[in-house]
Amino acid sequence: MIDRLEKLRSEGREQIESAASEKELEDVRVAFLGRKSELNLVARGLGKLPPDERRLVGKAVNRIKEELTTLLGEARERLGGKTGGPGLDLTLPGRVPWVGRKHPLTRTLERLEGIFKGLGFEVALGPHVEDDFHNFEALNFPKDHPARDAHDTFYVEGGGLLRTHTSPVQIRVMQTRKPPIRIIAPGRVFRNETPDASHGSEFFQLEGLYVDKDVRFGELKGVLIKFLRELYGDDVGVRLRPGFFPFTEPSAEVDVECRICRGKGCSVCKQTGWVELLGAGMVDPRVFRAVGYDPDEVSGYAFGLGVDRICMMMTGVDDIRLFLQNDLRFLRQL
Ligand code: DAH
Repeated sequence: MIDRLEKLRSEGREQIESAASEKELEDVRVAFLGRKSELNLVARGLGKLPPDERRLVGKAVNRIKEELTTLLGEARERLGGKTGGPGLDLTLPGRVPWVGRKHPLTRTLERLEGIFKGLGFEVALGPHVEDDFHNFEALNFPKDHPARDAHDTFYVEGGGLLRTHTSPVQIRVMQTRKPPIRIIAPGRVFRNETPDASHGSEFFQLEGLYVDKDVRFGELKGVLIKFLRELYGDDVGVRLRPGFFPFTEPSAEVDVECRICRGKGCSVCKQTGWVELLGAGMVDPRVFRAVGYDPDEVSGYAFGLGVDRICMMMTGVDDIRLFLQNDLRFLRQL
């Protein structure tokens, strides 16, 4: 009996291997595994065999059934393509995978960081939840000073506030290090403003600070002009106007020639031909005293720039709110 089964097994294998179409395979399946197949007859007759033999033959039948079924499956896969059956349609268009990329604000920040690193600045970071001392007091915004009103502040329950600018990182760095210091501090800042096309309640700034002996205003001007030329090309127009910040004296506001209209006047620059990008100035002696430096020993400059505005000019997007809505239909276009 076992010999007979063994013969069925090798015949089955051979016929499966030589089947040239799915139709032929199906015939082989019926002949070897179908209801009227010899294997099935043996299986049905098992009950009549003596127990010892029944176990042996039963095992062999099952093993052969399993083996032939597996081989049939493999052969079906192999033939599926050749017969042009339902297996594979080569004319179907492929699925194009979405390739992710960095957010435009991240790309802008990386670009700015790259330029400043090339000028010898290193990156320093600070917390989003700040205290009054670092965000205001040490930066010479005394309590009740009208300059505080310009910063609509989000206060955090239980104390603290969301930083309204990246300038508190200047304080943290100076508290923990000795000059010379040459850092930039990129990051997210928060103001409780009514959002419109050019204001968000969350936006990005990049702060710069250089402290050493005998630092002059001319160096600040030189670094900023170098930076703006790297960013926009050597022919970019740059303009410094007198400004006011509590933590710098003297202070300046820095404009660049509008990149959209090249200085002719358009809606982005409100017909002036210039766009304000930076605040800057020489670090106020009171700030040095607040961190324990002697203003007679050291001097320095600081600057802060609006990252979103630079990103808007780089991408041509005219509504700042779009950057943080994270609508992929918008972001995929940039
Ligand atoms: N912190 C200022 C703001 O948020 C920007 C600024 C101006 C930073 C002048 C500076 C600076 O470091 O020197 O409006």
